[in-house]
Amino acid sequence: MNQNQKISDKIQNLKKQRNAVILAHNYQIGEVQDIADFVGDSLDLSQQAARTDARVIVFCGVHFMAETAAILSPEKTVLMPDVNAGCAMANMITPRQFAELKKEHPEAVYVCYVNCTAETKAECDYCCTSANAIKVVQAIPQKKKIVFLPDKYLGSYVKSQTKRDLILWDGYCPTHRRILPEDILKKKAAHPKAEVLVHPECTPEVIAMADQVLSTSGICRHARESESEEFIIGTEIGILHRLEKENPKKKFYPASELSDCPNMKLNNLEKILWSLEDMVYEVKVPEGIAKRAKKSIDRMLEIT
Ligand code: 13P
Ligand code: SF4
Repeated sequence: MNQNQKISDKIQNLKKQRNAVILAHNYQIGEVQDIADFVGDSLDLSQQAARTDARVIVFCGVHFMAETAAILSPEKTVLMPDVNAGCAMANMITPRQFAELKKEHPEAVYVCYVNCTAETKAECDYCCTSANAIKVVQAIPQKKKIVFLPDKYLGSYVKSQTKRDLILWDGYCPTHRRILPEDILKKKAAHPKAEVLVHPECTPEVIAMADQVLSTSGICRHARESESEEFIIGTEIGILHRLEKENPKKKFYPASELSDCPNMKLNNLEKILWSLEDMVYEVKVPEGIAKRAKKSIDRMLEIT
């Protein structure tokens, strides 16, 4: 029995003892996706966290995702195997900056991309994910002024699709910004039959070159259902594990090999085991913030 198998067996035993479930984002490394009970995008994971009967959620993703699970399931213990897994974009708006923004646009409706802190969510009217941002914005009455934060690229994509005049915060994902239009051109020249699937966190120049703009689970679904046999994937490279596993006969090329998120790569099998052994690291959201943040998440879940 190899080392990973031994660790996996211990994890399975502990999971039963603790009544735990392991949720993993589509960007997690292969061994983490393979041990998880559920792998998905931010929307799937928040829905899964809200509906599971387990008492403990081991969340393999980044901090804002675990926070969302803790907000939706305050009676459960939410653990992160590596507490340092933050999201660069989520940290691009501070509470002080947000307070100033609100002073500038006191009458606006605030829509936050789920990639933000619980404090930011608590100050917003609606939350959204890459899978439902267009629907959420479309659900807001036409005459309302809307501020969208923190992702200016997702925001500008939503703006182009809804024709709503959104005010955008200047945040972005450094991992997706590494994908350049010339990367897509190069890959298209090498694989002319491939469909180009990109995440809406990419820049507008990259989005303009895509055949489909989708959330991470949307990319997985489209790759399964499409007749195409080759795909150029414009998102974080961890998703290739799931794509290749689910579609062994199809070929997937990363738009850029540089698009890896260091935070998403912090978890591994050993850390999941330690997390379950020692019940670390618990993610808790202060009650007042959780209550207000939940309203914006619930509004999103109602629309979806
Ligand atoms: P998804 O919700 O599409 O999985 O995106 C999450 C994320 O962090 C993208 O960078
Ligand atoms: Fe945040 Fe970007 Fe990493 Fe997603 S890929 S978790 S948006 S830094």
